Order: sequence, then structure tokens, then C-alpha cells
Amino acid sequence: MIPYGRQTIEAEDLAAVAEALQSGWLTTGPRVEAFEKAFGETLGVAHNVAVNSGTAALHAAMHALKVGPGDEVIVPAITFAASANCAVYEGAAPVFADVESDTLLIDPASVAGKITARTKAIVAVDYAGQPADYEALGALARKHNLKIVADACHAPGAAYKGRAVGSLADISTFSFHPVKHLTTAEGGMASTQDAGLAASMRRFRSHGIDSDHRQRSLNGTFAYDMVELGYNYRLSDLQCALGIAQLPRLAAWVARRRAIAARYDAAFANLPFARPLAARADRLHAYHLYVVELDLEALGMDRARAFNLLRAAGVGANVHYSPVHLMTFYRERFGTGEGQCPVAERAAERILSLPVFPLMTDADAARVIDAVAGLAK
Ligand SMILES: Cc1ncc(COP(=O)(O)O)c(C=O)c1O
Repeated sequence: MIPYGRQTIEAEDLAAVAEALQSGWLTTGPRVEAFEKAFGETLGVAHNVAVNSGTAALHAAMHALKVGPGDEVIVPAITFAASANCAVYEGAAPVFADVESDTLLIDPASVAGKITARTKAIVAVDYAGQPADYEALGALARKHNLKIVADACHAPGAAYKGRAVGSLADISTFSFHPVKHLTTAEGGMASTQDAGLAASMRRFRSHGIDSDHRQRSLNGTFAYDMVELGYNYRLSDLQCALGIAQLPRLAAWVARRRAIAARYDAAFANLPFARPLAARADRLHAYHLYVVELDLEALGMDRARAFNLLRAAGVGANVHYSPVHLMTFYRERFGTGEGQCPVAERAAERILSLPVFPLMTDADAARVIDAVAGLAK
């Protein structure tokens, strides 16, 4: 089975982790700062806070932006639940915006219609690896005094109008889960150009304490204060060592993902029943996911059957995502449901993610193409 996504672990990764294990610093050591610095240099972003998941990065971002009870946060309906959950962690209410029908990115027109006096922030998801429309979202944010968090968990290495993802929002969040572009097993980063927001997120990842173990050790002091409530969201030195080792290959990995996507695009252009999601000409798409929308009427089958046929052909297709506003928790807690985001609801019944990851060979891609074409038989 060709999975939909998979990490790349090579000799330098093993060596880097082994070295970290022997270094004396397993966590809160020098590799954390080194990873933050290297990651920031790759994206061109000044302040980077390493945390132990993309979810923790989103939570820290909400806290730093002072999202709280009584606030609303606008989130696209098509995303991973964490994009919305982070608002709930801080006592706010997510409000679901619909998506553009051809890209499934958050639709600025829908966002505009969901802004109220309570709206505090927008979580813009760079779904599948393509940046959202930050120009349109930025105009709304300026007009209504809102903050933007880029959930860029799918999009390190992507760009919008020549500007790197990471620099497009007040805070950008990344995930280093194994299916993502680079991995630290579990891990995340919150990136910002704002030193104050970064300082808040640094405290938040370590209990709300104003210094960490290494700083106190360097300063020869034991005293610290806990100035607010935080969590243990720290990323270990072992994981940061892996991240540092992975980073130099990020650009080549994005290029390989794009090359596989180009093969799929060319092959599916002639298939009447599998429409790849649109890639905007003004963006560099990092292809965390390659998503096709099936024309189920033309195919004469439901999506579950297409999914099972692909799996039977050794293609680990997947679905990203079922709309978050249709999840039981959101229905029960926030009264969300069908009809609130009709474009997302329709597309979510028809999409399939096909395998795309750097270690895939051209022969693997050809197998995927054959399996998709074979659905019509
Ligand atoms: C869009 C999006 N946001 C947030 C996350 C959460 O990242 P993590 O799994 O590292 O907590 C994910 C992970 O799949 C994601 O896809």
C-alpha cells in the first residue's frame, strides 16, 4: 500500500538524534534554540517558538493574541479539528466560514459575512499546502481590527505572491507530525515577527514561567516566577536535533512533492471524473496533500466505493477532511450543523487525498494514476 504521506528518515537524521542523546541535554537544551533559529532562517521569520505539536502552536497563538471567553474566531469548515479546537481551549467560540469551491481554501467572502462585534481572530488554513488568500483576509482584518493566525501546518516552504508562508499573518503555526513536510515525530512551531507575541508563547509553553531551566543554569540562578497559567508544551532536544537535520532538505522535498503533483495534474486533466483542486497562479503550493474531487455521478459510484477500490489497488487514499462543524462535539456544544457551509459540505462528500510524499518514485505515481483511471472501468 502506498500511504498518502510518509516521513523521510536518512543517515543524517539518525546521527543527529544519536548525538543529541549523548550530549547531556535531552530537553530545554541548546538544540531547541538552534532549531528555532534555523527554522526561522529558512522561512525568513524573526521569532520562532518550538512546541510539541502543531496543536500546541495553535493554542499558544490563541493565548498570545488574548483570545478568550466571549470572543469568536472564524475558522474554515474544511480543516483538521485542531484549527478550531484551539479557540475552544481558550474559552472562545469558533465560527465556521465556508471555503472556495475550487481550492477548498477559506473563502474571504464567507468570512466577511461571519464577522460580528465579537470576532477577534481568523484562523486561515493553508489547506493541502496552498496559502489562503492573505491579501483579502488582511483587508478584512484591518477593517474590523482582527488578528490572523495562519494555520500553516500543511505549508512550510509555500509562498503567496512571492512572500514565504510564515510571514503572512500575525502568527503562523506549523506541525512536524510524520506525514508533514518535515518531522520531529511530534512537534510544532509558532512563528511571528512580533517579539512580544513570541515572549508570551515562550512562557505559555513552559507553565507560564518567566525563564527556563537552561537560562537559569546559564545565569547561575534558581529563582523564577510563574506569571500566568501555561502548559508543558516543550519540544525536546532529541526532536529538535531531528528537525535541524531535516531542514536543509525541505526545499528539495517541496520540489519533489510539486513534481509528483504535476504528474497527477497532467494525467487527470483528461479524466472527466477526477478534478484536481485548483492551484492559484500567484501561489507556490507545497502539496502536503494532493486532493481530487470526484464526479460521483459520472463515475456511477459513491466515494466509499472509490476509496475501497483504490485501497484494493494498493493506493492509500484518504479523506481530508470531514467538515469540522459537522463533528458531534461542535454540533452539541455550539449548535453547528448542515447548511452552514454548503460548499464545504458538498465537496467533503467527494474529495479524496492521493499519496504524495518525497520518497515516492515515478513508478509509484504511475501506479496511483492507473488506479484512479481504473475507477471508471
Ligand atoms: C491543518 C492542521 N492544523 C493543525 C494540525 C495539528 O498538528 P499536530 O498533529 O502536530 O498537533 C494538523 C495536523 O494534522 C493540521 O493538519
